[in-house]
Amino acid sequence: MTISFPDGFVWGTATAAHQVEGGNWNNDWWAWEHDPASPCAEPSGDACDHLWRYPSDIALIAELGFGSYRFSLEWSRIEPEEGEISRAALDHYRRMLATCHEHGLLPALTYHHFTSPRWVAADGGWENPATAERFARFCERAAAHLGDLVGLSCTINEPNMVSFMGYLFAAFPPGRSDAGAYQRANEVMLRGHRLAYEAVKAGPGDAPAGMTVALGDFQAAEGGEELMATARRDLEDVFLEEARGDDFVGAQMYTRFRIGPHGMLGPEEGVKTTLMGYEYWPRALEATVRRTAEMAPGVPIHVTENGIATNDDAERVEYVTEALTGLGRCLDDGIDVRSYYYWSAMDNFEWTFGYGPTFGLIGIDRETLERRPRPSARWLGGVARANRLDR
Ligand code: BGC
Repeated sequence: MTISFPDGFVWGTATAAHQVEGGNWNNDWWAWEHDPASPCAEPSGDACDHLWRYPSDIALIAELGFGSYRFSLEWSRIEPEEGEISRAALDHYRRMLATCHEHGLLPALTYHHFTSPRWVAADGGWENPATAERFARFCERAAAHLGDLVGLSCTINEPNMVSFMGYLFAAFPPGRSDAGAYQRANEVMLRGHRLAYEAVKAGPGDAPAGMTVALGDFQAAEGGEELMATARRDLEDVFLEEARGDDFVGAQMYTRFRIGPHGMLGPEEGVKTTLMGYEYWPRALEATVRRTAEMAPGVPIHVTENGIATNDDAERVEYVTEALTGLGRCLDDGIDVRSYYYWSAMDNFEWTFGYGPTFGLIGIDRETLERRPRPSARWLGGVARANRLDR
């Protein structure tokens, strides 16, 4: 069986600044990782030292066969204190973008991927309405310096996870568990995205702009229908509705969420789980892309993240094969999907879980930081080159 992808379909792989750069001590996550009261497994430390090793990392991603690299700016490097913009940090990211172009990679740039500078966190973080304007101002400065080299602009990565995990589930900073704070953070994130969209679009270049949304294959167990609808409304729907005004919507999915009458149910018996404890559920891609198309009709979809944390690289190939087969069915049905980005290019700092869950196409030796491309990297790079999946 062969699945062909449309001409111009973009194949990429992704990272995020805090998960790979190393030494990002001036943001809320670094503080959180070092707080003994947080659930974090370990601090991020040197991460993958991508800050210094980006030239060879980007060259490797291109050599493997990919056509795009998605990475993020670290706001706390660019604006270490309010209003103090680091020209040197902006130049660093400009060099990263230029390196992508030198290797024929379309750079997809994320302006916010989970981390905020300490000064933002100290003043209420995403619960403070002023954060929306502060973030948009940062985007305006960054876009003015970088916009002409950007291929795809992602304003905020998974705003729905920042608010849910940080303000209701207490697993991300600021570690709150307060329904009111969660609602407020959701609103500030939505406005932050809207203002950022306008700021980025007003800058140089013509990259399509949008946000990326964390999505799950929501399924209600008997009696869980109402709760599922309520949870999904705040968690996904308000974001997908907001995306109706954008140039694209970034869809990111890993697994399924089963909801019973009293809340989230764990993995179903008989379904294997990944290193994240998620159900192994490659079908999430097809289900969530279809729902995104229903919720944001006519808006082009980019699959800006999809992947699996596993110790078994053959399982990674199997997972992505299943996911892409579902994506092929979406394309056959006329859904406008423009790209697929595998998460992640390399094993990295998996937030609260630390370095345990390995999502990478490229393995990283945690002692030496040596890069070791896995067979899945060559395999997916080959799919990218051929723009076709043979299974
Ligand atoms: C995030 C990534 C994260 C990945 C795997 C997404 O929620 O954007 O930063 O590493 O999922 O958990």
